[in-house]
Amino acid sequence: ALLRPVTRDLAGRTVVVSAGPTREYLDPVRFISNPSSGKMGFAVAEEARDRGASVVLVTGPVTLPDPPGVTTVRIESALELRDAVIRAAQDADIVVMTAAVADYRAADQATEKQAKVAGDVTIHLTPNPDILAQLGADKGERVLVGFAMETHAGVERAAAKAQRKNADFILLNYPTREGTAFGGDDNQVTLVRPDGTHEDWPRTSKREVARRLLDEAVRGLRPSTT
Ligand code: CTP
Ligand code: CA
Repeated sequence: ALLRPVTRDLAGRTVVVSAGPTREYLDPVRFISNPSSGKMGFAVAEEARDRGASVVLVTGPVTLPDPPGVTTVRIESALELRDAVIRAAQDADIVVMTAAVADYRAADQATEKQAKVAGDVTIHLTPNPDILAQLGADKGERVLVGFAMETHAGVERAAAKAQRKNADFILLNYPTREGTAFGGDDNQVTLVRPDGTHEDWPRTSKREVARRLLDEAVRGLRPSTT
């Protein structure tokens, strides 16, 4: 790839990024989760750092090491993710939610390992809070960015989410694109705005997607007062 000049367009800004999956424990040794690798969020955090931002990365369990020069907060559950993101977001100019937040958690988390029983079991799940929607409800001057993976009606569904959650835009991807999305080093996304306007971006590295994402977010920033 061609070397791009380093732009310090995020100097003096604070960027909060969430990444990875959450784990919703059923008992001390079992949980519900998803295959999110964290690569997309870590790429956004590193790109923001290199552009001069002060970066807080809140991540679920992933195998990636803490990026140098980034404040990394490790969490497990959606409730822990919410607490850490909402706290960090108070000082943020841009919040990027790449985390694959589990939509539900166990209604009653067992404190002891559950032995198997004969026959079927039923797990009672209760909804997790929607962190992006919570940020959107008290948006202030922050730029809010979401991600969505859809199997069908992607643009329509992503636009509705952006609207409902009061996000500036959502990057949409599909689980079926080979080498992209979960675990891959590349991504192919469509930028979707709340009004339904959208742009297909070419398939590129997650780092390049991060670059374009931050280019777009910077356009939404209020002029810096410092
Ligand atoms: N998100 C969040 N909190 C949740 C669920 C999702 O902040 N409890 C964020 C994700 O990090 C992502 C965006 O919302 O940036 C869209 O996630 P998605 O799962 O597509 O949205 P949902 O509202 O959960 O819709 P769905 O029913 O399609 O899962
Ligand atoms: Ca969801």
